[in-house]
Amino acid sequence: MRNSQAPFPRTRFRRPRSSAALRALVRENRLSVDDLIWPVFVREGTGVEEPVASMPGVFRFSVDCLVKAAREAHALGIPAICLFPYTDPSLKTETCEIAWDPDNIANRAIRAVKDAVPELAVMTDIALDPYNANGHDGIVRDGIIVNDETVEALVKMALEQARAGADILGPSDMMDGRIGAMRAALESDGFTDVTIMSYAAKFASAYYGPFRDAVGASSALKGDKKTYQIDPANRLEALRCVERDLSEGADMVMVKPGLPYLDLCRDVKDAFGAPTFAYQVSGEYAMIEAAAANGWIDGEKVMLESLMSFRRAGCDGVLTYFAPRVARILNG
Ligand code: PBG
Repeated sequence: MRNSQAPFPRTRFRRPRSSAALRALVRENRLSVDDLIWPVFVREGTGVEEPVASMPGVFRFSVDCLVKAAREAHALGIPAICLFPYTDPSLKTETCEIAWDPDNIANRAIRAVKDAVPELAVMTDIALDPYNANGHDGIVRDGIIVNDETVEALVKMALEQARAGADILGPSDMMDGRIGAMRAALESDGFTDVTIMSYAAKFASAYYGPFRDAVGASSALKGDKKTYQIDPANRLEALRCVERDLSEGADMVMVKPGLPYLDLCRDVKDAFGAPTFAYQVSGEYAMIEAAAANGWIDGEKVMLESLMSFRRAGCDGVLTYFAPRVARILNG
C-alpha cells in the first residue's frame, strides 16, 4: 500500500465517516443475499420441525417442512442450501452402508427440494459421521480411521448424491485423496457439471459441538477427530491442503470454522484466487445466540458484523445458520 496520506489536519479520516451517505460511498465491502448458503438439518417424519437445543432458532425438518423452508429460502434470494441428515441411531452401523443408499434421508431430501425448487442450488455433506455407529467421518478398524477404504465409501456416497440431483458436493471428511477420486468418478459417470466445494481447510475444532448434537453424532463419537482434521495451530498445512484439493478438481474451497480462522480466508483467497467460502459453524452461531439471549450483545448487529468480516477477509460467500434472518434484513 502506498503511503499517500498527508499529515493531520490535511488528512482527517473522520471526514468521510461524517454522514451515512459518505460512509456508503467509501464502503469497501458489501454483504449480499447472493453470498449466503443456508445449512439445514433434515430428519424422518412428516410435519416435523424439531428445535435443536444447542442452536436456538435452528430446527431439524422432515422432508415436507424442508421443502417449505427451501421455497422460503429461494423466495428470499438465497442461492443455495446445504443439507445435513439426522439419522436414527438404530440405523447407524460400523460399515455405514446407509450413507450411499439412494433412498436415505439425505438423498430423498435432495430429490424433493430439486423437484419443488429446481433453481435453488442444493449442496450436500459427504462424510460418514451421520451414519457411523462410532460417530467418525471415516470407517474405523481396530481404532484407526482407515483412509483409502473410507474414500471408496465416500465416492459411492458422492455418486448417489449426484444422481439425486445435488449441485454442489461438500466433502467434509478430510480423508486424503477424496477429491481426486470423486472427481474421476463423477467424470466417468457423466456428472461433468456437478461441482465440488471441498472442506479443504477444516480444523479439528471444538466449535462443532452443537452441530454434533443436531445430527445426533455427539453421543456416538468415540475419541476425537485429530488424526484427520487439521491442527488449529497449522496455517501452512491448511494452505497445502487447499492447493492439493484444487489440483485434484475442487471447484470451490472452504475454510472451517469461520471467524477464528479469518487469517486463512485471506491467505487462501490471495494465494489461489479460487472461489473461497467460510463456514460460520454451529459453535459460532451458538455463542452469538447465547450472548444475545442474555442481553450481553445486540445479536442482530453482531450477526451482520461477523458476516461482513468474511467478505472483508476475501470470502466469496458464507455458510451460515443465520442465512434466512440476514436475507430478510438485507432485503429490507
Ligand atoms: C461432519 C461435519 C461437521 C460439521 C459439518 N460437517 C462436524 C465435524 O466435523 O465433527 C460442522 C458444522 C458445524 O459445526 O456447524 N463431517
